[in-house]
Amino acid sequence: MAVDTGRVPVRKLEGGALMPAIGLGTFGSDRYSAAEVATAVAGALEVGYRHFDCASVYDNEAEIGQVLEGFPREQLWLTSKLWNDSHAPEDVRPACQKSLTDLRLDYLDAYLVHWPFPNHHAPGVDVMSRSAHARPYVHEEFMATWRQMERLVDEGLVRHIGTSNTTIPKMELLLRDARIQPAVNEMELHPHFQQPELFSYLVEKRIQPIGFCPIGSPERPERDMTPEDTVDIEDPVVVRIAKDHGVHPAVVCVKWAVQRGQTPIPFSTRRNEYESNLESVVSDPLTEEEMAAIAGIDRGDRLIKGHVFLWKADQSWEDLWDVNGVIVDGHDG
Ligand SMILES: NC(=O)c1ccc[n+]([C@@H]2O[C@H](COP(=O)([O-])OP(=O)(O)OC[C@H]3O[C@@H](n4cnc5c(N)ncnc54)[C@H](OP(=O)(O)O)[C@@H]3O)[C@@H](O)[C@H]2O)c1
Repeated sequence: MAVDTGRVPVRKLEGGALMPAIGLGTFGSDRYSAAEVATAVAGALEVGYRHFDCASVYDNEAEIGQVLEGFPREQLWLTSKLWNDSHAPEDVRPACQKSLTDLRLDYLDAYLVHWPFPNHHAPGVDVMSRSAHARPYVHEEFMATWRQMERLVDEGLVRHIGTSNTTIPKMELLLRDARIQPAVNEMELHPHFQQPELFSYLVEKRIQPIGFCPIGSPERPERDMTPEDTVDIEDPVVVRIAKDHGVHPAVVCVKWAVQRGQTPIPFSTRRNEYESNLESVVSDPLTEEEMAAIAGIDRGDRLIKGHVFLWKADQSWEDLWDVNGVIVDGHDG
């Protein structure tokens, strides 16, 4: 039975737009075909999802567009993302237009810069793969991309613009220089990776955090797996709370995310899973004690480290994340 969409919590963005506080992820993790993901989107619409997290690099927007066609547009929240190979100012509008054409839409609710680096990789590459043309973050270049993102808003192709995989130092510069502020920032968020500092910073700046890998992405690609990684849905605290509520540990992760204030975008192609994820946010909330217990299991365990976006041979993935509070660039000294 479908979830009453009117009961799904919403986030009020700066400017007043309402975004459903849970969406369906659409990255098939190199495991699920475009057709399988599109079928999940169709099923998710039936069970009551109205928010979908898309991206051109997921290579399934055309198939998803076929499913969306004809659905009342004003009831939907559609996000897409500018891929790293289209940061050049002249490439931004065509990339956005391609996503709009593929998704069969006149406008996007949100369009995000997928990564703050113009570096990309071929589908399915391994963790050591590096592009010969990889570059560090250069703020002036990022702002040239952002100016084009702002134009998309001016032209009505996009209602909101945002960032993804950014850091506080990079966000500080963007907020200083942007004409149109980011409405959302998409970031990795799950019980073992809560990013409390960035989360609080965004809330204070009235930028809504959208949480990817909310379940700890158990099916993520091999290139995003390292031996140190931990498994959220096996954490004893999550497992205990799941038993108490009679649900899968994944569902506890989703409940926690929405109650904490972020907007999770869990992925699944299985109807029972995506339906219980949506159902979980309208029923049987976690108690304060349970929320506090999950707050206590943060391990700072970043899963999507981004190795393939590094720009020098001898770097470690931490260099992508400005862990010392300073933007790491590729220039010596
Ligand atoms: N902006 C970015 O750079 C970025 C990066 C990564 C992801 N994302 C977005 O975030 C979305 C979600 O991330 P993700 O797909 O990596 O990870 P995730 O949502 O944390 O994990 C998805 C996996 O969890 C399992 N699952 C989901 N619901 C479940 C349930 N109720 N019970 C049991 N298992 C359940 C499914 O496994 P089975 O397939 O085995 O059923 C599914 O494949 C992506 O689809 C994408 O839209 C964005």
